[in-house]
Amino acid sequence: MSTLAYNAEEIGPRELKPALYELDGISRASVEAHYKLYQGYVSKRNEILRKLGAVDLSAANQVYSDVRGLKVELSFAIGGIKNHELYFEHLGGHGGDPSGAVGDLLERSFGSAAAWRADLKATGMAARGWAWTAYDWDEGRLFNYIGDAQNTFPVWNATPLVALDVYEHAYFLDYQTDRASYIDVFLENLDWDVVNDWVGRYGIPAR
Ligand SMILES: [Fe+2]
Repeated sequence: MSTLAYNAEEIGPRELKPALYELDGISRASVEAHYKLYQGYVSKRNEILRKLGAVDLSAANQVYSDVRGLKVELSFAIGGIKNHELYFEHLGGHGGDPSGAVGDLLERSFGSAAAWRADLKATGMAARGWAWTAYDWDEGRLFNYIGDAQNTFPVWNATPLVALDVYEHAYFLDYQTDRASYIDVFLENLDWDVVNDWVGRYGIPAR
């Protein structure tokens, strides 16, 4: 299944890797509930695009119109898909300091992996939904961006490489309100091989 965001064809949810059911410190029940939310974003994306196909374009209005409502919420649904596909795909590893291209990128952009980790954790504590480590192609470096919802506040021409979900649904079952402990556990479950693979595939220059 592809997930091309503006393809009018229906898409399906990506399957979870088996390793996602055996994370260290994030329970299977929590991951299963989380996956159901992701499936919801996929089906709403399909529903919205279906409705956009039949919408009355001549009634477009900035205060309220079907075009406006559908397009605003499409950005939420698509954000929910992309964010969660990153999140699930790069979990299932053993965290620690990354080697390879990602290690070089983190060091070049933040000074050290420890400094990156501290900054990402603080960004996640300050966020209401997401914190992302992304490569900004104009700046030529990584930066930890903050997001309050699925569709806020991505920056153009930047490629996300780490997606930290800090919505309460990501951790409340296992950690109640202790988000800091969840973020520590998230970091320890990152699969750096997956992230290094993305760096290679996107052609991001490590140096
Ligand atoms: Fe989530």
